[in-house]
Amino acid sequence: MSDLRELYQEVILDHNHRPRNQGELPDANAVAEGHNPLCGDQLTLYLKVEDGKIADIRFQGCGCAISTASASLMTEAVKGKSVEEVREIFQRFHALVTGEAEGQEFFDEFDSLMALAGVKEFPVRVKCATLAWHTLQQALEGGGVASTE
Ligand code: FES
Repeated sequence: MSDLRELYQEVILDHNHRPRNQGELPDANAVAEGHNPLCGDQLTLYLKVEDGKIADIRFQGCGCAISTASASLMTEAVKGKSVEEVREIFQRFHALVTGEAEGQEFFDEFDSLMALAGVKEFPVRVKCATLAWHTLQQALEGGGVASTE
């Protein structure tokens, strides 16, 4: 296994065992639920959007290691970013995990989101990796329930 692969695996394990930004956000002004019907896993995402930026973000719930790590990595990646920047990051991340980013530099190789690049080999896991991101999009569009199906 290459050093980079090992590093990516460590990042996923670390974020699964010690998820960042986990819990409720009492002063959230946008909330959405995410659901993966394939496995039944669910998460709730809380956002505080101020002046067009993600001032704070937390999540609760989740299931498998990939979805938990991805939710944790996502909260770190989008905190402090503008809503426009977040939409762009999601598009790039989606392209990365679905394999559309092949041969392109969608993120710097040391960007923590790159840790999930290996998911593209496992189509079922793409839904795990994107659950939190679909939920984020739903929250930004006014809340409700996002589904990976
Ligand atoms: Fe349910 Fe991954 S197995 S989200």
